[in-house]
Amino acid sequence: MIEVKDLHKSFGDSEILKGITTSFEQGKTNLIIGQSGSGKTVFLKCLLGLFDYEGGSISYNGKIFSRLSEDEKRNIRAEIGMVFQGSALFDSMTIEENVMFPLRMFTKLNKNDMRERADLALKRVNLDTAHNKMPSEASGGMQKRVAIARAIVNRPKYLFCDEPNSGLDPKTSIVIDNLIKEITEEYKITTVINSHDMNSVMEIGEKIVFLKDGLKAWEGSNKTIFRTDNEVVTDFVYSSNLFKKVRKMYLEENS
Ligand SMILES: Nc1ncnc2c1ncn2[C@@H]1O[C@H](COP(=O)(O)OP(=O)(O)O)[C@@H](O)[C@H]1O
Ligand SMILES: [Mg+2]
Repeated sequence: MIEVKDLHKSFGDSEILKGITTSFEQGKTNLIIGQSGSGKTVFLKCLLGLFDYEGGSISYNGKIFSRLSEDEKRNIRAEIGMVFQGSALFDSMTIEENVMFPLRMFTKLNKNDMRERADLALKRVNLDTAHNKMPSEASGGMQKRVAIARAIVNRPKYLFCDEPNSGLDPKTSIVIDNLIKEITEEYKITTVINSHDMNSVMEIGEKIVFLKDGLKAWEGSNKTIFRTDNEVVTDFVYSSNLFKKVRKMYLEENS
């Protein structure tokens, strides 16, 4: 469980996050959605402990991050897996070495144990035979799986994914979304995913936080998003013609 209270984050004079309060439950895929520039990545980097913030608090299973000692902060960071936008694999390392990287950073496991863990993580994302390939030899979808394997290799309690579908075709996107959802449920992880993709909303949006200009404009789920009259949300949702049609059908059926 992650609880965010009145989070404020500025760069110089420009306030990017203007007081966000929400919470993310364990075992759930929580989505942050909103237009480009609304503050999703900045928010996720605050959760990741990469950014300092001027106001508010973030707590991880009840521990308020800013009040922890450096050692305790490091322990929380070790419990976080991150899938960066565009996969962000290390080009000069094999796929297996990429996946082992967090274990080198955060554990004292010996090489054999690291190999074993990396192998399990790669198998979990259905990559059984790619260990010795270089990232450049893998397709976009495969690279995304490697990034997920790297994020889960140290058995995280928290998993953050920034636009995991960017650059993927719609079919591969759904496979990746569902893989993240399955892993979240299986390992009981608290997962937060940044997205601006309505397909993800429909497929895995159990809990959705809608950001607009650094504020939480709406909160709900894929079951309630079609019922809201909140214009900020409807503008976003029905910016695609497909969903305009779905809404029309829904309203006709329920009238
Ligand atoms: N390191 C930074 N320094 C200054 N401004 C930043 C920085 N990172 C992001 N911003 C600004 O914060 C706003 C929100 O950005 P971002 O969180 O990346 O949006 P999103 O991920 O929703 O597209 C943008 O106006 C962006 O220019
Ligand atoms: Mg972003």
